Amino acid sequence: MLEAMQAGQIQILDFLMKRRRRERVVVTDIETDPLWADFREASTKWNLRACWSQPILSSSGQLLGTFAMYYHKPRGPNQGELSLIEQAASIAALATERYRDEEITNQAERLTSLGTFAAGIAHEINNPVGAIQLAAEGAINAQSKGETKRVRDMLELILANTERCTRIVRGVLQFGRQSDYQKEPASLARILGAACEITQGHAASHGASVVFSPPDQDHPIVGRVFELEQVFVNLIRNAIESKNHGAAVTVQLAFDRDFARVAVADDGQGMNEEQKARMFDPFFTTRGSNGGTGLGLSIVHGILVGHGGSIHVDSKPKIGTKVVVCLPRTDSVEEL
Ligand SMILES: Nc1ncnc2c1ncn2[C@@H]1O[C@H](COP(=O)(O)OP(=O)(O)O)[C@@H](O)[C@H]1O
Ligand SMILES: [Mg+2]
Repeated sequence: MLEAMQAGQIQILDFLMKRRRRERVVVTDIETDPLWADFREASTKWNLRACWSQPILSSSGQLLGTFAMYYHKPRGPNQGELSLIEQAASIAALATERYRDEEITNQAERLTSLGTFAAGIAHEINNPVGAIQLAAEGAINAQSKGETKRVRDMLELILANTERCTRIVRGVLQFGRQSDYQKEPASLARILGAACEITQGHAASHGASVVFSPPDQDHPIVGRVFELEQVFVNLIRNAIESKNHGAAVTVQLAFDRDFARVAVADDGQGMNEEQKARMFDPFFTTRGSNGGTGLGLSIVHGILVGHGGSIHVDSKPKIGTKVVVCLPRTDSVEEL
């Protein structure tokens, strides 16, 4: 019953729809209908004698399009045809609206994650850049006092932090080329060792101790080493910052049948229920005055989701916090 429309006919119909203000148009005989007076030439060319069109309206009444049916003989719709046309138009409206809403949501999500990502890069680069600045000032100071050993220490610190920046930038570039940056078998013991090393300077400046005792047996996981390192650097940093001075931080790695579990625990201030509920929100920070951006944990969360992992937090005010990260073991997956 429904016949395909041609481009020229769509234009005619759009015009008619505008004239008729979003109502159904039923032209039972094109040859005699005054609505078609200006379009006789086209209708004769296409041999059109009847035309019905149904507006496709959004839930707010916005015109999304039209359904049009053409016939080579004069005729009007019967009751059954009318209700079929109405149903088809309302299904088309639902589908069009849903598609449009999804497009809008996808675009908004893409923009939000781009913004979070950009802010995350700034956050990650900011720490080593701050350390470089401090070390450079320290080196100038030490040099003026002729303390050559201290100058050398400061220069080494600058070098280590510059390397960290380079790695972050490399990671970001690789992130942009996801296909080049595949997950690979990795050792969590090694990743944790590197994270402790990276946070050494931060611990020293807070008078904190970070203790990591690697387990006797290591099992591989699959992941992006750079990203996982970021996860644990952020968690250890938070643990170090859980007390103004002298936090005791322990990092433990254990394995069960399916998962690797990393626990980062501190004896710091802990969190109340409200803080715990919001800690993963981007930009939530109680350390704004100390340079906190509130992005660390949202980055951690994003990376863990990308690795099929999870994170659990146990925290008590004035007692401390224990964060446990679970990542799937690759060898157990192969066994199954
Ligand atoms: N180990 C911890 N002890 C106490 N509070 C914590 C701990 N880890 C995270 N938090 C809370 O979660 C907030 C968000 O952490 P994060 O996303 O890393 O941002 P930032 O460190 O920049 O504040 C912190 O400001 C703090 O309030
Ligand atoms: Mg943090």
